[in-house]
Amino acid sequence: MTQRVLTGITTTGTPHLGNYVGAIRPAIAASREVGVESFFFLADYHALIKCDDPARIARSRLEIAACWVAAGLDTNRVTFYAQSDIPETTELNWLLTCVTAKGQMNRAHAYKASVDANEAKGEEPDDGVTMGLFCYPILMAADILLFNAHRVPVGRDQVQHIEMARDVAQRFNHLYGGGKDLFVLPEAEIEESVATLPGLDGRKMSKSYDNTVPLFEGGPKALKDAIARVVTDSKLPGEPKDPEGAHLVTLFDAFADAGQREAFRADLRGGLAWGEAKQRLVQLIEAHVGPMRETYADLMAHPERIEAVLQAGADKARARATPFLKELRQAVGLRRMVASGAVQAKADAAEKVALPVFKQYREADGQFYFKLTTADGSLLLQSQAFAEGREAGVWVKHLKLDGAAALDGAPVAFGDGVTPAQVAQALNDLQALEAQEQAAKAAKA
Ligand code: TRP
Repeated sequence: MTQRVLTGITTTGTPHLGNYVGAIRPAIAASREVGVESFFFLADYHALIKCDDPARIARSRLEIAACWVAAGLDTNRVTFYAQSDIPETTELNWLLTCVTAKGQMNRAHAYKASVDANEAKGEEPDDGVTMGLFCYPILMAADILLFNAHRVPVGRDQVQHIEMARDVAQRFNHLYGGGKDLFVLPEAEIEESVATLPGLDGRKMSKSYDNTVPLFEGGPKALKDAIARVVTDSKLPGEPKDPEGAHLVTLFDAFADAGQREAFRADLRGGLAWGEAKQRLVQLIEAHVGPMRETYADLMAHPERIEAVLQAGADKARARATPFLKELRQAVGLRRMVASGAVQAKADAAEKVALPVFKQYREADGQFYFKLTTADGSLLLQSQAFAEGREAGVWVKHLKLDGAAALDGAPVAFGDGVTPAQVAQALNDLQALEAQEQAAKAAKA
């Protein structure tokens, strides 16, 4: 069975090494597996929860998209899109909101962290907490469940959100599935070896802690400068160092193979200077990201390429999301009152009745004529006599195809009391119908 893998990155900053190691790299690797279908997206609705600076949101969307593509994402193979290009996300968000317990949201880590911080400062518990932040896990559940993802590669800090998505999926299935599972229950997927990359100060590398190492921005120099600031103990060159628990080693491990890891540890135990160790780390990372950085710079100079990629991705995503949401609406009881086919047939019939008609005929004088009447038979236009039936036919065709524009010079007289506006309206209606029929024919051909 095909496994669907899905993950998103919040577009509030410039991609850093933690994003790459924790999300982008494992996700791209998973997307290359056989039997895997991948959905990767810019979580730009989530970004609005954390950031109210439009310029920053816009820039970050571009940077992060360019980053994924530069990191080797095959956008033909995967579905790569912006969350905000999928309106079904917010529709599903509401359906899920209505089956999510508030108490469960009270326990969400991100919200609790804000409350704790407020309490520590002696503020009101909910000070500065928006409903966006409070409901953050529901929107995330919508992202995941909309595509019925099986696996969700995320950082460890996001595991609780995946569990919440499972819970809400389960409740929805139970309430509305009628014995059938509308939603797949997703599983969090964590790259065990380097689940959370430490930042410069050893805490999780995160925009919020301002302890990140840039991935591409600023070039090799920015990388070198950042690594130079990684906190180490104060052991001097030549003194043996304990590699276990050193942030620098965790960073190194994220890019090293088994042999390199072993050698690095042995050298540290043997007294390798921290400064030297940092240089080795920079070289190691640079060997990975240097080539990607060139592609990144090229894409940043051509935002139209990124936009085209995202739009194609949104089309692909919505080809799934739109029919699925229809099914979900149906399940919760948001249904048409009557079968939609019947409604359409009635509407079509009403329209046909209202349309004017052309008639071609031959009189007792042996001459050919045509006339245009309203649907109920009153005369709008009367043609002059034609010696040949074909001539009448040519005019009718001309009037049908070109509408009121064909009236000028046409061999016709208006019916009694008929205004030019009435005739123009009738002809233009017929012309529109003709155009529709032509288009339908062309589509079939
Ligand atoms: N909340 C995630 C983060 O900050 C980003 C995200 C949004 C996400 N929607 C998602 C991740 C759905 C996985 C699946 O990292």
